[in-house]
Parts: sequence; C-alpha cells; structure tokens
Amino acid sequence: MSAALVARALLSGLTTTEPLGSWSAPGRANLIGEHTDYNDGFVLPFAIDRRTHVALAPRADGVIRVASTFAAEPVQLPLASLTGPFPTDEVPEWAAYPLGVAWALIAASGADAASLTGVDIAIASDVPVGAGLSSSAAIEGATAAALNDTWGLGLDPVALAQVGRTAENDAVGAPTGIMDQMASMLGRADAAIFLDCRSLDATVIDLGFAEAGLELLVIDSGVQHAHSTGGYRERREACDRGAQLMGVAALRDLSAEDLPRARGVMDDVTFRRVRHVVTEDQRVLDTVQTLREQGPAAIGDLLLASHASMRDDFEISVPELDTAVEAAMGAGAIGARMTGGGFGGAAIALVPHDRVETVKDAATAAFAASGFRAPTLFTVTPSEGAGRDA
Ligand code: GLA
Repeated sequence: MSAALVARALLSGLTTTEPLGSWSAPGRANLIGEHTDYNDGFVLPFAIDRRTHVALAPRADGVIRVASTFAAEPVQLPLASLTGPFPTDEVPEWAAYPLGVAWALIAASGADAASLTGVDIAIASDVPVGAGLSSSAAIEGATAAALNDTWGLGLDPVALAQVGRTAENDAVGAPTGIMDQMASMLGRADAAIFLDCRSLDATVIDLGFAEAGLELLVIDSGVQHAHSTGGYRERREACDRGAQLMGVAALRDLSAEDLPRARGVMDDVTFRRVRHVVTEDQRVLDTVQTLREQGPAAIGDLLLASHASMRDDFEISVPELDTAVEAAMGAGAIGARMTGGGFGGAAIALVPHDRVETVKDAATAAFAASGFRAPTLFTVTPSEGAGRDA
C-alpha cells in the first residue's frame, strides 16, 4: 500500500470525521554543498521521489493529535499549550517533529492558539529514516503545508521551511541548518535548488539527468546517525570558532585566498574544518556553472572532491561510505559522494543508465568483502516539493 493510503487508513482508525485533505513533502538528496548551510553558504539539494504523507481531519475540542506508523500510540496536546516554550518533556521524540511544527507555526504566524481548529493528523512515509535523505524535513514539510492550509495562515514556502527548521532546532533539539527544509518545500521535477543560505535566495537549476542518460543511485549504508548529538554539533562549533578567529560573521565570508592566514591563527583541526567549508562553497558555485555550461555528465570530479574533503578535512565520513564511493567509481559511476550530515547514512552516485546494475552489484560485493551489513540501493528522481495532494 502506498504511504498516502497508509496515512488515510491510519486517520480513519483515529476518527470517523471526514478528512479535510492530504498533503505530502519529499525527502531530499544533496547533490553538493555539505555543512555549508549553517555557515551562511551555498547548497545544491534536490527533492526526491520518496515522500511523507499527512492526512488530516478537524476536531471540535482544540486538541492536536498526531499518529504515525513510527509509533504504536498517538500523542495529543491542547493547542493552547503550544505557546511559550515547547513542552519537550511531555512529547516523545517522533512526535516533536509534527507538534514542533504546529508550535513553530503558531509563533511564526502570530495566530491565537486558542482560536485554531483542533486536528487529527496521521503520518506515513516512504522516505528511509536515518539514510541522510531528510525524513525529518519531509515530516516537517508535510505537516507545515497541511496546518498552513487548514488554519488559513497564508505563509509562503520559505516561511514554512523556516518553521520546519525552528521545529527541528528548538522542539527536537537538532542544531541543523535550513537546507533540508528548503529543498523539501521548494523542490522541482528534474531540477536542483541552488540556495544561498544567507539571503535564502533560491534558484532552480535544471539537472537533465535523464536526457544525459544518467541516474542518481542512493547507496544507503544502514549506519544510523543522529544530528541532535555528537559529531554534527561539534562540527558546527568548530566552524563558529573558525569564523570568530578570522573575524568574520560566518565562514561564507572567507575564500580560498584567506586559507593561508587561517592556517596561522587556528589549530590544525579547526583549520581543516574551515578549509572544507570554504572549498565546498566554491565547489557548489562551480557545480552550478558546470551544470549550466556543460550538463550533469561534467560534474563527477566536483562530487569526488567534495567527498574527499568530507573524509579528510571535515572527517564526517565512515568506512562504509568511503567503500560505497570507491566501489561505485570502480564500476563506472562518473561521480559519487556521501550525502547529508555524515557519520552514517547514504552515498549518492551519478551513474550512466546502463551501468546502474553493475554499480549496485559492485557496492553490494564491496560491502560484503569488508564485512559490512548489505547496503540498500535505489535510484531517485528529482521531484516536486511539498504540497496538497487531495
Ligand atoms: C543535515 C542538516 C542540514 C545540513 C546537512 C549537512 O542534513 O539537517 O541542515 O547541515 O546535514 O550538509
């Protein structure tokens, strides 16, 4: 059964009230530009054809109740309690995503929580969780679109992306940037979103994978990561430290010419974190230019350079992801890199159509030879962003 139908079925198990509608939002793959978003830099993600679906029905009592295929029991709160600080202690982590969106939406719109229609929300998803494909942004985007329409708030997609990030940062407690939510809200079929994370200016960049005879293969390592803890937060702190030592507002304000000076004013680890971000911003700009001038078959080296920088300078890859990239390249991919926050999740490989099965087989064999759990392999298509489906 499709995730859209699962959401509808879950909703009809919660309430006999007629649904108001169904909404969905995609996960994303990041083509290039990793850990640049919270440094005010550039990213080039695209929405994928894996989506989270939300079905919603009204209720008369001013309560918001969320149910999901991720959990046995629904969670509910009075809407009036979603003002002030988010009630973290009362909410299991999965429910902090949709309830955090409601909370952030109420704050961003200035709506009077007590006057809003209560809602039952059922959530089902076919975005793999923990694969670095932003299953969380997909939940946030679908919930934000559904509540924005139901409550007649009139927020635009960029404002809804900001609501999603607020939910993730302040309700869930993961210190992420805005890339995933922007990709999920603004995605376009067959295109990537070139985003300036300082101004939030977004430009649609044609990808033309199909015309070029290319496919985008995801190699999900199955290694789980959590951005609310550990390495992701440490990387952010190193970037902030680097910017401070260089006297700039954000690493976005540095270029390759500043790197020799950077090396002199910070420790080696911080320097390498800074060098990743500065060179990655440039790689995003170069990728956009290459796509425009030469098409996708010419971006392979930029993807590989991005992976090497994450592996060696930013140190967020894992052996599984390095193996995935090497196996894909050895079997005929034209470029590959880990995607997402790192410490697990997935790699992407840009592969000529007739090499896809060979690359899949090579990745599976390489994982087995290294004693890793078998990877999950599937192609994704650049797709439309969040919206109402019915
Ligand atoms: C996660 C975060 C994003 C971004 C990436 C790394 O996906 O949610 O904001 O920082 O990691 O590029």
